[in-house]
Amino acid sequence: MQRPGIIMGRGVFAAGLVIVLSMTVGGCGDAPPPRDETPADAPAANGAEAREADPRKAEVLSAGEYLEIPRFANADFSRGERLFLQCRACHTLGEDDPHRPTGPNLWGMWGQPAAQRDWNFSDALSNADITWTPETMDAWLARPSSFVPGNRMQFAGVRSADDRADLIAWLLVQTSDAEQP
Ligand code: HEC
Repeated sequence: MQRPGIIMGRGVFAAGLVIVLSMTVGGCGDAPPPRDETPADAPAANGAEAREADPRKAEVLSAGEYLEIPRFANADFSRGERLFLQCRACHTLGEDDPHRPTGPNLWGMWGQPAAQRDWNFSDALSNADITWTPETMDAWLARPSSFVPGNRMQFAGVRSADDRADLIAWLLVQTSDAEQP
């Protein structure tokens, strides 16, 4: 599971992982078994600078530009797809897919503020001042209840940072016009 080139790809992104590394809990449903946490995740947890970085301040790029970043370009997209099995009871991804009663469609969210769609979002998420970048998505998916207290997404979180990167890479492709690298 050592993926050194990916782990340290972007300081700010790595920082987003730090906040959540030690406090995530497992997901549920029929997704693949969780990865073991490996020492490869550890370097991000060193530096005070990383600990203080705010995922909300990350640079906003297009989905296609994010997919040029090595940690996403080199992600395991098929694992990302399988990890999405945890989400699909509540979320659709395609441009013309309807919302579900249990959760909003996610098409076109990258670079956009959270909770903008025509769906019954909580005040907590609507007022959270989040723009969806891989950094904010990583913090959200690691543990939604910590990143946005009081939100209504009934989901514990994705424990492994590598799993989150694979899932984010796959979501970048599925919810935008960007091609899989
Ligand atoms: C049990 C249903 C459920 C599951 C499972 C679930 N979500 Fe959600 N999700 C929601 C709900 C409900 C909201 C809206 C939360 C709110 O308004 O507070 C949401 C919001 C979101 C948003 C913000 C959308 C926006 O427009 O701002 C994203 C991104 C998201 N979920 C991704 C995921 C991913 C990825 C997974 C799987 C790893 C997942 N969710 C699992 C129900 C779910």
